[in-house]
Amino acid sequence: MKRKHFIQYLGATAVGTALIPQSLAGHSDSSKPPKGKKPSVYIVPQGAEISNAPHNEKYWGAVASNFIRPQGFINLENGYFSHQPQGTLRYHIDAETAINTQTSHFMRTAQTQAIEAARTAFADFQGLIPEEVAFTRNTTESLNIIIMGTQWQAGDEAIIGDQDYGSMVEAFQQAVARWNIRLSVAEVPVHPKSDAEIIRAYTSLITPRTKMLHLTHMINLTGQLIPVVAITREAKKINPNIFVVVDAAHSLAHTPMDMSELRNAGIDAIGGSLHKWLCNPIGAGFLFVKQRNIREIWPLMGDISADRTDIRKFEHQGTRPIQSLQTIAKAIEFHRLLGSASKYNRLTYLKLLWIGNKQALENFGKGLGILNDPIYQANMNAVTDLMNMDSFKLQSPLLPFNRGGAIATASVSGYTPTELANTLMNKFGIFTVGIDHPVIRGVRVTPHLSSSVSDCIALNKAFTAICVDLIPHLEPIK
Ligand SMILES: Cc1ncc(COP(=O)(O)O)c(C=O)c1O
Repeated sequence: MKRKHFIQYLGATAVGTALIPQSLAGHSDSSKPPKGKKPSVYIVPQGAEISNAPHNEKYWGAVASNFIRPQGFINLENGYFSHQPQGTLRYHIDAETAINTQTSHFMRTAQTQAIEAARTAFADFQGLIPEEVAFTRNTTESLNIIIMGTQWQAGDEAIIGDQDYGSMVEAFQQAVARWNIRLSVAEVPVHPKSDAEIIRAYTSLITPRTKMLHLTHMINLTGQLIPVVAITREAKKINPNIFVVVDAAHSLAHTPMDMSELRNAGIDAIGGSLHKWLCNPIGAGFLFVKQRNIREIWPLMGDISADRTDIRKFEHQGTRPIQSLQTIAKAIEFHRLLGSASKYNRLTYLKLLWIGNKQALENFGKGLGILNDPIYQANMNAVTDLMNMDSFKLQSPLLPFNRGGAIATASVSGYTPTELANTLMNKFGIFTVGIDHPVIRGVRVTPHLSSSVSDCIALNKAFTAICVDLIPHLEPIK
């Protein structure tokens, strides 16, 4: 590949060489992240001559080169958190170094300005207004603020889904024990035939006492995207007072949908993690709460200094790593260089490739006008259609494509989830995660921007070998 096809993207706020306290160096704005020893550079091909089509490994291989790959195994478990591209990592280290150098002086004079700059950057990124965005440590904290901060009365009802994330289910169960509320659980179809089927699963549970509806935008167990906008609209037709809260842990910066679309559809609160698909350093989450609802929700940590209507009342966390917030604008830069739609297409393509389903690959290629590209064809020919194998069962919806993104879960008959994950790791050097849940049992596979076409072909071949050769189960990892 010709070097001139690359722009080594240099973030506007991360140039320079010296690591010195900015206040001592005469900088008036020490809330800005510091100047590092190395610039925080992203390597992203630019220009009309290089295509960002999802199968173009010249482009996506360059994108993947921003990440340091783990040694000794292929990582296809990127659902827990995402590692950061090196430009983000360096920026974060520089920010931490600067705070460490500036000491409490930073915390006492510049931290507020840094948080506000991050708030503005994130709100702008998602089409929200800053006054409706709070920063938390993660989705768990964001949604606990809503669930625990709601003024419940005994007999109030909440609706959750049968595949919601465990921590949220526990939070609602604690609310049951604490306030004697009632919980209804929607059975979300794993292979829905239509949106209407999913909408009905929730709306059929609504009663005049329903106070809250909790929706997981992208289900972590299967990667299924549920139609939160349509569910909200239908739910509010039945009972306009229902408070709709969305778990956006896996949809933020993964699907092309901005959080503003959820807000505009009437969703009242959203929680998400920035260390997943935005590739921000660990420990940053967001909470959106519609302005008119802020007053009635109690903060998790006692706060009387902020006005009751001020979103900042939810941020009373004590001393915290401001460098993770300072890095948000940098992480957004990387995302924007790729573009939401092309990132989503790439992630979807990697999923389709390891599953190998010809019909899905053909529809996908046709839709993007790349089906007849020789490389697209060659990749398609390199994989086996696992769905033709009797022992293979996909636990995620495949079509239409807007029902998912990168994540998919599959099982092989005769294997427990742990046995299958261990076989993939010990025999083939591919790291996934076993999911053993009352509704979903299998291994979850999550490629990310650091993954390659050959990683996914290797997984397809591993599954093929397991299904064809019936490779014996391996002992659990000690
Ligand atoms: C759907 C869903 N919600 C919430 C969470 C919790 O995210 P965090 O650990 O960042 O709070 C996860 C984590 O994987 C998740 O998958």
